[in-house]
Amino acid sequence: MTRQAKPDRRHFLRGFAFGAASLYVPGVYADVLTKTPRQTEGPFYPNKLPLDTDNDLILINDRITPALGVITHLTGRVLKTNGQPVNNAVVEIWQCDNKGVYFHSQAPRAKTIDPNFQGYGRFLSNRKGEFYFRTLQPAPYIDGIQRTPHIHVIVKKGKKRLITSQMYIKGHTDQILNAIRNKKARQSVIVPFKAVPGSKIGEVSAHWDIIVGHTPNDPTEAPAHPAPKKKNARYF
Ligand SMILES: [Fe+2]
Repeated sequence: MTRQAKPDRRHFLRGFAFGAASLYVPGVYADVLTKTPRQTEGPFYPNKLPLDTDNDLILINDRITPALGVITHLTGRVLKTNGQPVNNAVVEIWQCDNKGVYFHSQAPRAKTIDPNFQGYGRFLSNRKGEFYFRTLQPAPYIDGIQRTPHIHVIVKKGKKRLITSQMYIKGHTDQILNAIRNKKARQSVIVPFKAVPGSKIGEVSAHWDIIVGHTPNDPTEAPAHPAPKKKNARYF
C-alpha cells in the first residue's frame, strides 16, 4: 500500500480552494449570516485524548494503515455573523468510526473501535478563518436513541468557548437535529457531502461555515455531561 501523505496546512491551502471570496468587507458591520445553532456536546468528547490530535483523523501518527470508511475532506470557516473571519480559533471535531463507535472509554462497544481511526482532531483556523480536516464520513448508530450521521465540533478562541455544535449530512435527520426549531438555523448545520471528482477511492468533500456571535462564550452554553451508565440510557 502506498503511504498516504498527512494533510497539513499547506496541503489544505493548496488543494482545497474556497469558492466564495470572504464575505467580510472591513467597515461593513451588518449581520448577514445565520448564527450556527448550539447543539449538545453529548457524552463522548474524548475522556482521554488520542495519541495523535492533528487534523488527519484517517492516519494516526506515522502509521501506514488508514481508518476504514469513506474518506471525507471537511473544509470550512469560522466567521462572525458579519462575515469577519475568526483566526487562530481552535476547531475541534470528534465523531464515531465507520461502525458507529466513539473514541471514549465509556462509549458503547468502545473496545471495538477501528484502531486506525483517530476519532478526534483539532486545527487552528488561519487568517481567513479557514480549517481543514481529513476524516471519515460518519456512520449512524443506535445507542439509546437512533442517531443520524453527525460530526461534533467545539470552537475555542483562547480560553473562551465560542460554540459547541454538530454538523449533519444532507438528506439525513434525527430528533436531535430536529430539535433546532428554526428552519434557517437547522439548515445551517446540514451539509452536502459531494463526491471528489476523479477520486479512485470514493472520497467525498464537505464544506461547513461555523458562524459565531460577536460576543464569545455564550452564557447559555450547555455544560458537558458524563456518559450515562444505565442500560437503555439515551446517548447522543
Ligand atoms: Fe454523537
